[in-house]
Amino acid sequence: MFQSIQFAILSLFVATTFAVETVVINGSDFVNSVTGNRLQILGVAYQPGGSSGYDPASGVDPLSDGSVCLRDAALMQRLGVNAIRVYNVDPDLNHDMCASIFNAVGIYMLIDVNSPLAGQSIDRSAPWDSYDSSYLNRTFAVVEAFKSYPNTLLFFAGNEVVNDLPTGGTVPPYMRAVTRDLKHYIAKHSTRSIPVGYSAADVRDVLLDTWNYLQCTTTGDDTDPSRVDLFALNSYSWCGDSTYQTSTYDVLTADFSNTSVPVFFSEYGCNQPSPRVFTEVPVLYGPLMTPVLSGGLVYEFTQETSNYGLVNVNSNGSAELLVDYDTLQKQFNTLNVTMLQGEKAANTTVVAPTCASSLIVNQGFANNFTIPAVPSGAQDLIDNGISPAPVGKLVTVTSTKVTQQVQQSNGQVMTGLAITPLADDESNNPSGASPSSSSTTTSSAPAATTSKKGGAGNVKSNWSVLLGVVSLSVLYTSFI
Ligand SMILES: *[C@@H]1O[C@H](CO)[C@@H](O)[C@H](O)[C@H]1NC(C)=O
Ligand SMILES: *[C@@H]1O[C@H](CO)[C@@H](O)[C@H](O)[C@H]1NC(C)=O
Ligand SMILES: *[C@@H]1O[C@H](CO)[C@@H](O)[C@H](O)[C@H]1NC(C)=O
Ligand SMILES: *[C@@H]1O[C@H](CO)[C@@H](O)[C@H](O)[C@H]1NC(C)=O
Ligand SMILES: *[C@@H]1O[C@H](CO)[C@@H](O)[C@H](O)[C@H]1NC(C)=O
Ligand SMILES: *[C@@H]1O[C@H](CO)[C@@H](O)[C@H](O)[C@H]1NC(C)=O
Ligand SMILES: *[C@@H]1O[C@H](CO)[C@@H](O)[C@H](O)[C@H]1NC(C)=O
Ligand SMILES: *[C@@H]1O[C@H](CO)[C@@H](O)[C@H](O)[C@H]1NC(C)=O
Repeated sequence: MFQSIQFAILSLFVATTFAVETVVINGSDFVNSVTGNRLQILGVAYQPGGSSGYDPASGVDPLSDGSVCLRDAALMQRLGVNAIRVYNVDPDLNHDMCASIFNAVGIYMLIDVNSPLAGQSIDRSAPWDSYDSSYLNRTFAVVEAFKSYPNTLLFFAGNEVVNDLPTGGTVPPYMRAVTRDLKHYIAKHSTRSIPVGYSAADVRDVLLDTWNYLQCTTTGDDTDPSRVDLFALNSYSWCGDSTYQTSTYDVLTADFSNTSVPVFFSEYGCNQPSPRVFTEVPVLYGPLMTPVLSGGLVYEFTQETSNYGLVNVNSNGSAELLVDYDTLQKQFNTLNVTMLQGEKAANTTVVAPTCASSLIVNQGFANNFTIPAVPSGAQDLIDNGISPAPVGKLVTVTSTKVTQQVQQSNGQVMTGLAITPLADDESNNPSGASPSSSSTTTSSAPAATTSKKGGAGNVKSNWSVLLGVVSLSVLYTSFI
């Protein structure tokens, strides 16, 4: 009896989207808000079309076409990633299907609120000219569009805006101001707190001053709204078969060892020499670095002119895995997922340093912590919300099978490529799948033979499946 009721419940919900647990920050760790387990970011940058490919007039952005997202989510699930970073989104497009697909396979989204278009980011050469209410309206629109997806992990308020000493002298107060405005907007208009942070260029002259300028507190505690919730850097110092020392990863790890906020690589994966060997992966996710860093995102999923891709995508939708995909997958498969994702957050919380000019080392870098006031008109947006506000919500993912043709790096066509929806409380992990097998290990039904490493295809206990249904209905109600 129990079994048949259970079966009925399961079949009722089998096509429905389960949800990842939201992620919160505890000290310098990302943690699962329900289990309290630490989350290490195993990610890829996702910008099909390249950094210059964003064009609102085209009516598409990287998260607007469900069929493309399904193809890429299936390939990413197989690869073993649990997060994507998306740089340029159009807040007025519908992202429900893509967000729901990535959610279903346990992949979180790190969303930049800016775009390269005029008026849609802080201009590093004249930040005072670009920090206005129209610009903030755009950043708030991105928050509105993504705040309701449980797999939205964080927002980046800026990317590589400070990239040398001159910009270090002028831009940092504006980065704190944008951070403050976003955090106030989220506090007022989102039912959950979503972290806001900054993604830095790895320019060693200004890296640590930027980190300190943005992580410090002017209020004596962690609640200063202009303080970032996390700090990330785009790191390309490990090239080829390097080492912890040669790459200076050891220096970075030491430098950030007493960080008060999570630090991770918002991009990594130097592409010289090519093909890549990705030997930084076991080091980044090994015992030397995981106590300090929270993982990273490989640059980048699709092949673009800059030649960092893992997958070549054709305009007709077909795709070919590149040899770098296989190599990265092999490296991910060596990781101890239990160690990475199964442990409680570290029991050390570093109190944020107090903002003071003595915190800043380089002459010429901003050391005045008085930040710009909210621009004219923007306080009204923060108080009352933007209008019209885009609305995002999870939707049912009905089709799991990839329709486009995908070839492996050896030229063989992949058969049965599909996403495998995970249970409610799971994020994706390396599955142990072999890159060279001719048919894929992903299928639309949870595989009976699952890797000991967990993740994709894991069968949950009956209890957790039922609990999943309960929290799903809570979620469902809250989204109506
Ligand atoms: C604010 O953003 C919304 C959503 O993108 C847009 O429709 C509206 O026109 C914007 N308002 C202003 C004043 O820019
Ligand atoms: C799609 O485009 C690729 C590259 O141009 C080509 O090799 C392939 O045959 C095309 N596939 C289909 C189904 O048209
Ligand atoms: C993986 O990590 C867990 C937890 O730290 C540990 O108990 C286990 O022995 C590790 N497994 C391997 C194969 O190293
Ligand atoms: C955290 O550290 C304190 C002091 O060292 C210790 O008393 C406490 O048991 C630790 N808590 C956890 C959860 O490890
Ligand atoms: C943060 O981590 C500490 C130490 O492990 C733990 O005692 C505390 O409950 C955690 N808080 C949350 C919100 O997870
Ligand atoms: C971190 O360590 C540096 C020196 O290694 C020190 O100057 C700084 O105050 C420390 N920061 C915190 C937040 O403890
Ligand atoms: C810091 O900047 C503010 C605003 O620009 C200015 O009023 C103040 O005098 C500056 N403080 C110092 C010590 O330069
Ligand atoms: C669910 O429960 C049934 C009956 O107790 C049991 O036979 C089955 O193995 C369980 N399934 C899982 C996935 O634990």
